[in-house]
Amino acid sequence: MDTQKLSAVASAIVSHAKGVLAADESSPTIKKRFDSIDVESTEPTRRRYREILFTTEGIEQEIGGVILFDETIRQSTLDGVPFPKLLAERGIVPGIKVDRGARALACYPGEKVTEGLDGLRDRLVEYRELGAGFAKWRAVIEIDEHDAPSPFGIRANAHALARYAALCQEEGLVPIVEPEVLMDGGHGIERCEEVTSRVLEAVFSELDAHRVLFEGMLLKPNMVIAGKQCFRQNSPEEVAEATIRCLNRYVPAAVPGIVFLSGGQKAEEATANLNAMNKMGRRPWEVSFSYGRALQAPVLAAWKGQESNVAAAQQALKKRARLNGLAREGKYSPAMEAEA
Ligand code: 13P
Repeated sequence: MDTQKLSAVASAIVSHAKGVLAADESSPTIKKRFDSIDVESTEPTRRRYREILFTTEGIEQEIGGVILFDETIRQSTLDGVPFPKLLAERGIVPGIKVDRGARALACYPGEKVTEGLDGLRDRLVEYRELGAGFAKWRAVIEIDEHDAPSPFGIRANAHALARYAALCQEEGLVPIVEPEVLMDGGHGIERCEEVTSRVLEAVFSELDAHRVLFEGMLLKPNMVIAGKQCFRQNSPEEVAEATIRCLNRYVPAAVPGIVFLSGGQKAEEATANLNAMNKMGRRPWEVSFSYGRALQAPVLAAWKGQESNVAAAQQALKKRARLNGLAREGKYSPAMEAEA
């Protein structure tokens, strides 16, 4: 295993003000996003949309990596430049979603486990040849009003994440390890902290047992945040304090970066929360973003599938990238949202 290369790539993705653009929506998910703006999801419309994202001028200042979907990593710009090549030439590391989605966990009603380990080694070899420098695997943990997630559900997901991460490193790809505790539900921030703590503890214990090199991976967790239906929502400072406390307890200092998912937070909210965490001062790891919806929602709203809106769509992406870059340094303020 080339440990130096793995740790250099992991660190490059989160260097300076950089974070990750998650553009790895599966075909059903991108269809949902396109439905919201009345655009039909076809291979050409998906290709065009991703081309608009990846050719946005200047995003390489804040975007260190882009996560692609299987279809996207094989697509090219209209003039024939493969997307992974286009990104790499701009100094952005191309990555690939390799899990095959969360399915019902047998005998544990309501819980899920992520599938995709069978044949993964061969798929990783192919993705590396297509230009990927890192991979992503998402585990989904749901909080309910009773006892879920169960300790077994957490362990099953942590085990799969660790097997994936070890395979990635063996094949020379940096694993992004994503255990997502969902924001769905009426639970308060305390319950989210309790569950996130149990999840992170299990994930790092399994990663360690699988001999994963912490220096050569990135963690993509949820923020510690109240459920969407909870009557009491917290300030960015409260979210930052609970999240950093939880990460301090369970994430080894050897991990180079934390790249949060946005998980359904509004774009401005995800930026403000990231900013509040970075305002708390330096941590052993870079505290950054790997947002899907919080980077792309304003882009989709501006684009609406119209060629005449491409400039506005790219401006919207550049703006979110810039503001999240500032949040990486604790220099964002909500007043900046009104600026162009
Ligand atoms: P969101 O930021 O929209 O949660 O997406 C991030 C992601 O990659 C989910 O797997």
